[in-house]
Amino acid sequence: MASASSPDGTAMAGQGVYNCHAAIPAAGGALALPLFEQAARRIELDDGARPIVIADYGSSEGRNSLSPMRAAIAALRARIGRERAICVCHIDRPTNDFSSLFVTLAGDPDSYMRNDPHVHALAAGRSFYERTLPGEYVDLGWSSYAAQWLSRIPRPLPDHIFPDCATGAVRAEFVRQSAEDWETFLTHRAAELRPGGRLVVAQPANWGEEGPGSTGMSGIMDLTNVVLADLVSAGMVTAEEYAAMTIPAFPRRRGDLLAPFAGDVPFSGLVVEHCDVAAAADVAWREYERDRDARALARKRARFVRAVFIPTLMRQLDAGRSDVQRAAFADRLEAGLVERLIARPMPLSLAVGSIVVAKQIDVQLRR
Ligand SMILES: C[S@@+](CC[C@H](N)C(=O)[O-])C[C@H]1O[C@@H](n2cnc3c(N)ncnc32)[C@H](O)[C@@H]1O
Repeated sequence: MASASSPDGTAMAGQGVYNCHAAIPAAGGALALPLFEQAARRIELDDGARPIVIADYGSSEGRNSLSPMRAAIAALRARIGRERAICVCHIDRPTNDFSSLFVTLAGDPDSYMRNDPHVHALAAGRSFYERTLPGEYVDLGWSSYAAQWLSRIPRPLPDHIFPDCATGAVRAEFVRQSAEDWETFLTHRAAELRPGGRLVVAQPANWGEEGPGSTGMSGIMDLTNVVLADLVSAGMVTAEEYAAMTIPAFPRRRGDLLAPFAGDVPFSGLVVEHCDVAAAADVAWREYERDRDARALARKRARFVRAVFIPTLMRQLDAGRSDVQRAAFADRLEAGLVERLIARPMPLSLAVGSIVVAKQIDVQLRR
């Protein structure tokens, strides 16, 4: 069994499954896409021959990175011409399915590699809570739906799986962990950014400025928790396994995103150019409004939960469990969620926090 505080407990479903069921992150990331294009137009560029470096922090299997990378490359090409090399570095945990990522880059009709022989894709399998790339290496950074994953679980939740549903002292520990991780994330990105570079981060957020607020995901996570309780009652999951199941993700509020920048001096040389919390489009709900197919809506929601959260929950199943038992757990959880969701079709009011930071140019270097 993975330890409850294991930093390696957050892999998405592999073998292309994440790519197929990631419409919710795609809609969230789309909100920050114009900011990323603008950042590509604003970064400081020398007129040397070194490759321009774009970093994609928390890429998963890559499909949702195609559109932002394409937009940034187009903006850069308008500035640097067609010949200068551009390197796109995809960073994720060592357990990420990087094969699916490279297959996507090679074969997807929307790949940013198409028709540009001077764009090169690289990958780094390392936690973004560490230094992942050399110092002052990155011109432009992007991170979508990844920075909300915490480096550790401060303590397992006693009766839920989703920290945003926690209250009181337990919630306070997640707030502290989330604040620490956000500073760590920014500190490493600051070291990796070139002076004049930009970093754009989009992540699931919490609407409320006061009180626990809401992320828009709480309803679905409540239902997932109810189905898990059913599986415990049915003897499919032990009480110990359930007790260790906590998703290490915590959506931040706008104030949390801005907290490191509250002082008089720039945080690690970074200054904020933009920060907002806005609603992502609920594409599945729009489709439901057209076709009124509650089962289809429920299946889309449940497949998203399976692709993003169930692999993390499965890590808490006892190490002695067979692959067949693990697959049966995932199938039963998904099927139970579909049945619950059919009974309650609901739109999601998904909050997305977007922030753009610029690495300051040393005043002495400015002319
Ligand atoms: C929900 S997926 C987002 C993928 C993609 N960026 C998108 O917008 O759809 C989150 C990704 O962040 C990665 N991730 C989580 N914690 C990480 C960490 N500490 N270091 C690197 N990657 C991490 C996960 O492995 C996963 O691939």
